[in-house]
Amino acid sequence: MSKVSILDYFGRTNTSNIHAFGWKATLCLEKKINCKPSEKILEFGFGTGNTLVYLASKNPATNFYGVDISEIMLKTTRSRIKFSGLKNQPQLHLIKEKMKFPFENNFFDKVYIESVLGILEVDDLNFVLTEIARILKPSGKIVFNETIWLSTTSLETIEWMNRNALADFGIKQASSDFPYANNWKELLHRHGFMVERVVPLNEIITQRKTQGVSFTIFRSDLFSYLGKMKGCFNSKLRRDWKKFQKIIEMNNKQEQTMEGWLFEASLKK
Ligand SMILES: C[S@@+](CC[C@H](N)C(=O)[O-])C[C@H]1O[C@@H](n2cnc3c(N)ncnc32)[C@H](O)[C@@H]1O
Repeated sequence: MSKVSILDYFGRTNTSNIHAFGWKATLCLEKKINCKPSEKILEFGFGTGNTLVYLASKNPATNFYGVDISEIMLKTTRSRIKFSGLKNQPQLHLIKEKMKFPFENNFFDKVYIESVLGILEVDDLNFVLTEIARILKPSGKIVFNETIWLSTTSLETIEWMNRNALADFGIKQASSDFPYANNWKELLHRHGFMVERVVPLNEIITQRKTQGVSFTIFRSDLFSYLGKMKGCFNSKLRRDWKKFQKIIEMNNKQEQTMEGWLFEASLKK
């Protein structure tokens, strides 16, 4: 069994779009975020920073911020920003579990998240949503993509798969506290959000990757590619990946148990 968290591996190899449907899901999210000049927008759990660089490059008059809990992710995102030559640099913060976010009340217009909420423990998830509600403006918006369980996947299977995923990858597959779409709707309601859209991504994904819009984005893609190369040539990373790959291949042989969804909600406070 691997002792290295797969997220650390992804951080070290500049892996982008660590969520269901990858780029295509990010393009759906981009539409819903609808960045406008002078807005303040936060990414919670920015990973290796690809989406932040992409959005900031396409929306130079919007103010971007990011928080993440991993020092590896922070370091990689800083390197990506530097490497890509991004002009309007997002303000990045390293946070800790249950640490008040370093922003004042009613600060943000929008918060977006890609595959983070579902891997949090229930206390941390409630804390994070309370913090997001605090830092969002009164009618602020939250948009996120998340992997959730199919309604046909039993709670026993979910518990079993999460136990294995924690042992094999160092993270859960998806939330067992909020397994299905209705659980997420209720959770958002409880935190003062009016739910606007909850939809499986495969029902709305149509676009192809059309991101070659700037040299900055091209360099950010190159940064991801160079990380992949590092994963191939560094012997320690190669060993780690072999362990993960074996388990991933085994998982792929099982029938589908979960899928990516898009959530869109506005705060009412
Ligand atoms: C599955 S990755 C997704 C990364 C990125 N959003 C993407 O889609 O490529 C989860 C990310 O959430 C971060 N994370 C996990 N727990 C967190 C927490 N409590 N607060 C902030 N970030 C967290 C991890 O460090 C990692 O970068």
